[in-house]
Amino acid sequence: MPASIVLGTQWGDEGKGKVVDYLADRMDFVVRYQGGNNAGHTVIAEGQVLKLHLIPSGILYPHITSVIADGVVIDPRVLLEEMDTLTGLGVDVSRLLVSGNAHLIMPYHLEIERVVERFLGKNALGTTKRGIGPAYGDKAARIGLRVQDLFDPKIFREKLDVVLREKNVVLTKVYGRLPLEADRIVEDYAGYADRLRPHLADTSKLLHDGLREGRRVMLEGAQGTLLDLDHGTYPFVTSSNPVAGYALASAGIGPVWVDRVIGVTKAYVTRVGAGPFPTEETGEIAETLVKRGGEFGTTTGRRRRTGWFDAVILRYAARINGFTELFLTKLDVLSELSPIKVCVAYEVDGDRYEDVPPHQSLFHRATPVFEKVEGWWEDLGDVRSFDALPAAARSYVKRLEDLVGVPMSVVSVGPAREQSLPVAAREA
Ligand code: IMP
Repeated sequence: MPASIVLGTQWGDEGKGKVVDYLADRMDFVVRYQGGNNAGHTVIAEGQVLKLHLIPSGILYPHITSVIADGVVIDPRVLLEEMDTLTGLGVDVSRLLVSGNAHLIMPYHLEIERVVERFLGKNALGTTKRGIGPAYGDKAARIGLRVQDLFDPKIFREKLDVVLREKNVVLTKVYGRLPLEADRIVEDYAGYADRLRPHLADTSKLLHDGLREGRRVMLEGAQGTLLDLDHGTYPFVTSSNPVAGYALASAGIGPVWVDRVIGVTKAYVTRVGAGPFPTEETGEIAETLVKRGGEFGTTTGRRRRTGWFDAVILRYAARINGFTELFLTKLDVLSELSPIKVCVAYEVDGDRYEDVPPHQSLFHRATPVFEKVEGWWEDLGDVRSFDALPAAARSYVKRLEDLVGVPMSVVSVGPAREQSLPVAAREA
């Protein structure tokens, strides 16, 4: 069946790019469906390590058409920069298509986010400061500018004048900043328009027609389930919906096409930015996970918070997204950490919770109920089949699977493609 959805099960950075890489041979389209350049994935092109923030990593495969769908917010300057970098490395970016319905990140979004985060002080969300929240805010308030507006200079100017009037009052009168000039923005965005014109497409129709012809589509989420605006740890979330349901709303195709929903999970948990994190570790274990797992943000370079695997949030993610399978990454990072702890439930005020508590203040106070699992000492980087993993590593995977109730289809033990190990008899 033709469409798969791939998304993160925790707070992002689970290694979704690896799944795209692993399944690329079987895909015709890779579609990014939400977020903007707050995301980041590290890819290796022409022997060089590249950090992409907006363009789906499918761009590296000549047979794949990469799509940025309606639900994404696009900073055109960043998009063009990424396209230039890829072109410089010999990657053909002509197969990148962008929906005209996607919203634009504008200079005032960046400016406003910077001052608002500062204004919030100790209550700041720790956003990536890429203008994501303000851009989605304007979309909901129906004062956003969209990619298609770039190609109608009169409309672009009219909409910009209306919105700038209000933004400049906020910037100058509330935050004491200088106003932004419409002329300057118009000039910059007209330049972006010229370059983006060949990439504009009716992406919903393109995908629908492709699916009808039997082409295969992968819908790729950014961030993760717990950063979802509705289902995440609000307000410590992003401003869009990474959950599987939104993939269809954004891409403009129906649920009937989807047969796989792949949840990507690390063998432990990480989070960047503020917000609750029940299994967080801060001492030596955290140092080891950060060091071995290279746990620094691709977009902001911030050190990630780290903790043990949390089966409660994964069960929750499985419920919200309807996973058909799981792809477990970074199992190799846990070598030599025996005994490994796994959170099987939470305790709040003496009560035991098998599920994420429905009220945020309970979740903020949740303490993990840990189970200890025997670890292993071997380095897993050279293992090339699931059956060749140490017995303790296989048991760990099996235990996670049992706790979550969703089968693991692939386990990865390093960044290279051959380090993704299909779990026998499961892999589709
Ligand atoms: P925003 O998406 O920039 O508004 O940031 C909101 C929250 O989401 C912050 O805690 C960010 O650190 C987090 N966040 C946004 N994008 C990512 C990502 O790709 N990986 C991990 N965390 C992210």
